Amino acid sequence: MTTRLFLQPGPPPQATSQSPLLTPPVGPGDLPADLPVAGPDGTRTLVDRFGRVARDLRVSLTDRCNLRCTYCMPAEGLEWMPTEQTLSDAETIRLIRIAVEKLGIRQIRFTGGEPLLRKNLEDIISATTALRTDEGETVRTALTTNGLGLDKRIVGLREAGLHRVNISLDTIDAQRYLSLTRRDRLSGVLSSIEAAVASGMQPVKVNAVVMPGVNEVDIVPLASYCLELGAQLRFIEQMPLGPREQWRRGDMVTAAQIFERLEQAFILSPAREPRGSAPAALWNATDRNNTSVTGTLGIIASVTHPFCGDCDRSRLTSDGTIRNCLFARTETPLRDIMRAGATDEELAAVWAGAMWVKKPGHGIDDEGFLQPDRPMSAIGG
Ligand code: 5AD
Ligand code: SF4
Repeated sequence: MTTRLFLQPGPPPQATSQSPLLTPPVGPGDLPADLPVAGPDGTRTLVDRFGRVARDLRVSLTDRCNLRCTYCMPAEGLEWMPTEQTLSDAETIRLIRIAVEKLGIRQIRFTGGEPLLRKNLEDIISATTALRTDEGETVRTALTTNGLGLDKRIVGLREAGLHRVNISLDTIDAQRYLSLTRRDRLSGVLSSIEAAVASGMQPVKVNAVVMPGVNEVDIVPLASYCLELGAQLRFIEQMPLGPREQWRRGDMVTAAQIFERLEQAFILSPAREPRGSAPAALWNATDRNNTSVTGTLGIIASVTHPFCGDCDRSRLTSDGTIRNCLFARTETPLRDIMRAGATDEELAAVWAGAMWVKKPGHGIDDEGFLQPDRPMSAIGG
């Protein structure tokens, strides 16, 4: 019965044209022949062959991180991207401006690695919130962070115009936090979540990845903590993005299993809000033992019930590459053509070409599925 409630609004989309899967273009002279033409003012939307339109841009500002989550990185960290390969602030802001003014992007989420490690983050956010869409609207901005140091910067980030934060927290047990992230920093993250709630940001979202044999016992304590605080916790099914030996389809903790555990401690009913392209199925939750503890919980069934058919995302990595999917196995670099003098229109056209060839789904369950070559920390959540 519960499984039905995680079902997404439909199967993977069917192609609107019979075009074969094209290799993403690498230069302005190399666009797919069937790319929709630009409007008279040069504006396009980031539409793909299945009719999905990308409105949400995820901008990874650095591949570095101050945690070493076991499902993401080895203890010694990864080989970080050299500075000269990383987009400068001005280059980053230019691409964001093109996305907003010429490509129909309406929401920007800054990610990493850990975006708080990016120098001048506040300046990049201010420059983004100063932009206006082709319809004269401001863009919504959000930050996905591990929370370290956020408590001291939340006021400045809000002043820069940041609208929302998502803070990652997979356990509220200090010992398990240490073994999961290899750093003894739980109290810093908790004070950041509390500072974000106190700052009046609404909603403050907390993301928890659930891993078999690691943090299933944290499901209910995490939910109680967030409900009491007034933060919106969303559980995420673990996806095959980290060290290869850490994910097996048969072992993963599914959304249905998360729901069953929650249901033992909370009365759950579907939240009224329509889901749209937001991936979390939202539940109104009330503590069975204390009915004054009540709020919303989300469960993101990215593996068992993918939301690819509703995906509205485009991704920009910190070295200036467009990825049309978290799981894409091809990328479209913009940095070098930008440094070689490409115009805004040329960059917009190449970006549109990269999105046009987006695949219908992530294919995790397909035979022969291969993880992306780029680690999650260099793609951004
Ligand atoms: N599966 C699901 N979510 C993941 N994240 C990192 N790796 C994975 C994975 N393999 C999450 C982080 C954070 C966001 C950036 O992505 O926990 O919330
Ligand atoms: Fe850092 Fe996020 Fe990777 Fe953890 S999951 S090491 S917080 S980038």
